[in-house]
Amino acid sequence: MTNRPRHILGIDFGGSSLKAAIADTSQGLLLSEPVRRETSIDITPEDTVATIREMVNDLNWRGPVGLGYPGVVKRGICLSAANVSKQWIGLNAQELLHGVVDDRVAVINDADAAGLAELKFGAARSEAGPDGRVVLMLTLGTGIGSAFFYRGQLFPNTEFGHIELLGGDAEHYAAASVRVRQSLDWKEWASRLNRYLQEMEKLVSPDLIVLGGGISENFDKYQSYLSTRATIAVASLGNAAGILGAALAVDTPV
Ligand code: BGC
Repeated sequence: MTNRPRHILGIDFGGSSLKAAIADTSQGLLLSEPVRRETSIDITPEDTVATIREMVNDLNWRGPVGLGYPGVVKRGICLSAANVSKQWIGLNAQELLHGVVDDRVAVINDADAAGLAELKFGAARSEAGPDGRVVLMLTLGTGIGSAFFYRGQLFPNTEFGHIELLGGDAEHYAAASVRVRQSLDWKEWASRLNRYLQEMEKLVSPDLIVLGGGISENFDKYQSYLSTRATIAVASLGNAAGILGAALAVDTPV
């Protein structure tokens, strides 16, 4: 079977930025450094789409586009918005993208996107096939995103960052942004993360936990404070995972 190059524009929409790059989804590579635009938490959907249009034009892109959105997405419609404007709730993001490009588009939860990329090309590659064990990918950033796989299949929109922990929302307790906001040292933050991971183990018994998000670069600073039954691995695609995974979603119906 030939592995023909497939080029798709992937866009990762986060709490603080939009990042876009053209991806080769057959090889799992970004073809250029991502372009990035800062966004604020209250940026309107209208301004977000205008920024996406600018990025598409800057990259001179005419072709399929995949967007990773930081909330629940079903059939292109955004159903939650924890760290972006609440105006997204109920909007059909897929239709909005169709207004920007005249080609195939897909919208997927941002953590599901990162998970797909890590499963296909990164730290969870060994679990990608039909014998794949239970994989929990977590993106630790402004919030906590989750992607959940069994036998190489994604169970979309799990939203495990919002389980209740100590009477509150887990992401308000253990996201990477909380470490900075509350000036926690690595040990203090890691013990919170560990508590969260152990709670997740009680609920879904993963075999492999992949930790992603910017903070995965500092894994050596907190690794020793984590103790789980599951193997813990660090995401290996870094920032590229969200972009590549969004591009992969165009050919992976979720
Ligand atoms: C959202 C998730 C998202 C995660 C990371 C959470 O607050 O509910 O959908 O994946 O943040 O962006």
